[in-house]
Amino acid sequence: MEDLKRIERSVLARARRAKAPADVAEIRAEVLGKKGPLGLALRSLGELPAEERPAAGQKINQLKGKIEAALDEAHARVQANARADELESGAQDVTLPGRRVVPGNPHPLRIVERDIIRALESLGFAVAHGPQVEHDWYNFEALNFPPDHPARDTQDTFFVSDAVVLRTHTSNVQIRTMVKGKPPIRILAPGMVFRHDEIDATHTPCFHQIEGLWVDDKATFADLKGVLHVFAARLFGPERKVRFRPSFFPFTEPSAEMDVSCALCGGSGKGGCRPCKGTGWIEIMGAGMVDPAVFEAVGYDPEKVQGFAFGMGLERIALLRWGVDDIRLFYENDLRFLEQFRPGDTR
Ligand code: PHE
Repeated sequence: MEDLKRIERSVLARARRAKAPADVAEIRAEVLGKKGPLGLALRSLGELPAEERPAAGQKINQLKGKIEAALDEAHARVQANARADELESGAQDVTLPGRRVVPGNPHPLRIVERDIIRALESLGFAVAHGPQVEHDWYNFEALNFPPDHPARDTQDTFFVSDAVVLRTHTSNVQIRTMVKGKPPIRILAPGMVFRHDEIDATHTPCFHQIEGLWVDDKATFADLKGVLHVFAARLFGPERKVRFRPSFFPFTEPSAEMDVSCALCGGSGKGGCRPCKGTGWIEIMGAGMVDPAVFEAVGYDPEKVQGFAFGMGLERIALLRWGVDDIRLFYENDLRFLEQFRPGDTR
């Protein structure tokens, strides 16, 4: 009984001194554990005369309850103190300004690419990709550029070796898609292309194009015009006019260049309008009916299939759309410039 008194005094004193939840847990484990003083006391009951045992057991249990209550109280106290300290130390100063979350933003060229794909998706076009380092055959030869033909000079080429080039246009994906599959084909092929150009406000040696190819057994030039009308209306707005001018590409026949009416002067060209150079029109892409020689190169029978293709530069579309006057801005990674372009920001 003397021992129990002593245990009670010392444990209650320790509980009062506890400063942190961990202190309380430590006392609890030590005192109430099997090897603790109460456990020992319970086990030593056997040494007492039988008639004293029940009373002694009861005492021990009472003390156990008392200690548990004291430890619970101590735990509540240290917990409350910890919380008070935390608040006091200013861990949460509600008067501080919030941290601004700056959301990421797609690059303007990526925005244009997505918008073009979105504009044409509903007509059945799927996205296709091809390599940027390309065999001469896919970039030129199968597209009806014969070796040493002057048409190759219009695309100043970076050569990796005699037979391998950095693709000069996305038209290589036309060939890769046709070689791999069968008509009907409707693809849009976006990607990087390379030409040996001096860097200035409208040229960079690496730029982006998006290519369209539609092949089946009955596609006509009227379908081509229809598709591009839809494209122009969705991308530039229904008020913009388009026109087609005859042109030349080795892989299309007949070929055309498509212009859209200038947004700045409303197509009038008045006052020496700068973007359209006073003509009222801005050229945005090349297009045409796939040349039979191309079908032959990929193993299609030109008597049985027909189709059209078109290709445009993303930078050019972006310049027109946002009135940017220097293509280099797209590559300088100046966030003050890039932040201004938001998806869906169609004009
Ligand atoms: N590949 C051509 C170019 O880069 C564009 C084009 C694509 C023209 C498809 C006609 C058909 O200039």
